Amino acid sequence: MAALLALLLLGAARGDAPASPAPPAVAPTEAEGEAAWRELWAGALDALHREPSLNSTREDVPVQLGGVAFLHCPVRDLGERGISWVRRRDWHIISSGLFMYTNDERFQVLHSEGSDDWILQIKYVQKRDNGTYECQVSTGSGVLSRQVALHIVVPEAFILGADEHHVDAGSDISLVCIIEKSPVPPQYVFWYHNARMINYDAARGVAVRTERGGKTQSTLAIRRAAPRHSGNYTCRAADTEPASILVYVSEGSDKMAATLSRSSAAPGPRPPRPAARAAAPLLPALLLGALLLLALDLLLPTGLAAWLPLR
Ligand SMILES: *[C@@H]1O[C@H](CO)[C@@H](O)[C@H](O)[C@H]1NC(C)=O
Ligand SMILES: *[C@@H]1O[C@H](CO)[C@@H](O)[C@H](O)[C@H]1NC(C)=O
Ligand SMILES: *[C@@H]1O[C@H](CO)[C@@H](O)[C@H](O)[C@H]1NC(C)=O
Repeated sequence: MAALLALLLLGAARGDAPASPAPPAVAPTEAEGEAAWRELWAGALDALHREPSLNSTREDVPVQLGGVAFLHCPVRDLGERGISWVRRRDWHIISSGLFMYTNDERFQVLHSEGSDDWILQIKYVQKRDNGTYECQVSTGSGVLSRQVALHIVVPEAFILGADEHHVDAGSDISLVCIIEKSPVPPQYVFWYHNARMINYDAARGVAVRTERGGKTQSTLAIRRAAPRHSGNYTCRAADTEPASILVYVSEGSDKMAATLSRSSAAPGPRPPRPAARAAAPLLPALLLGALLLLALDLLLPTGLAAWLPLR
């Protein structure tokens, strides 16, 4: 028993024993080593004393809906620290250094080696990205931060004229849609009649002409409108607040004249409707009967008139 214990102890002692250090191939002289140490210390102390500095001026960044936002965070003397981007709306931490804490792949931090800037890039910006973001860096004396307000600019479409457009059948419809607050012209402008896109209805007399620019303008023209062209027309452009107008195509004078000439030119007498034919001979007979009873009532003595249906 004692022998076993001794063996175990021996084993443990051998395992714990440190490996004997290999002697350095070339031992530095005392002076060399001291110089190196001093240099290292000076560098470390310097880095320790130089705190990061951050341009804390609040910045406003307007970006068009669907565009790319670049939020800048210029930091000096960051050292080994990292900056964090935070969304102030919900205090959601978006990133730390180059690490992203969001699954939203539209967000990315851009930083090139040696640069002072840590850029939060947001692609395909949406309305919900609107708000203030903050970059932060911790220092020995607290947290430095810079706020960047991202303003999502939403281009707006509007259709010239009133909310309603009245035209007579047979005349042409012309609607003009203007897209404002859109420095980058929209990729497309689509016109809808109720829910249907009609840009390519050339065969049905529909023509769309769009001029892109600082102020994009699109014209919808429909030749010889008919009542079936009535309805809700919407001008919809990429990443733009749409606009709608209600169009009423009335049976105009043209249409009425056409209907009249058609009925007068109709060959042969039209057969009367059955209801009218039945009622026509019946009405005078009923009137005559009523008059007869009234006359009887006046002429006959009251006793006799008592059993007459009029009383
Ligand atoms: C801080 O940033 C603003 C713009 O965000 C700039 O106008 C200003 O010059 C900067 N200040 C310094 C000290 O760099
Ligand atoms: C964005 O937020 C600002 C306030 O921070 C507000 O005034 C503005 O209307 C918002 N814009 C949009 C498109 O939501
Ligand atoms: C017309 O259509 C648009 C888009 O579908 C809709 O937003 C709008 O409310 C409609 N207008 C009317 C008066 O129905």
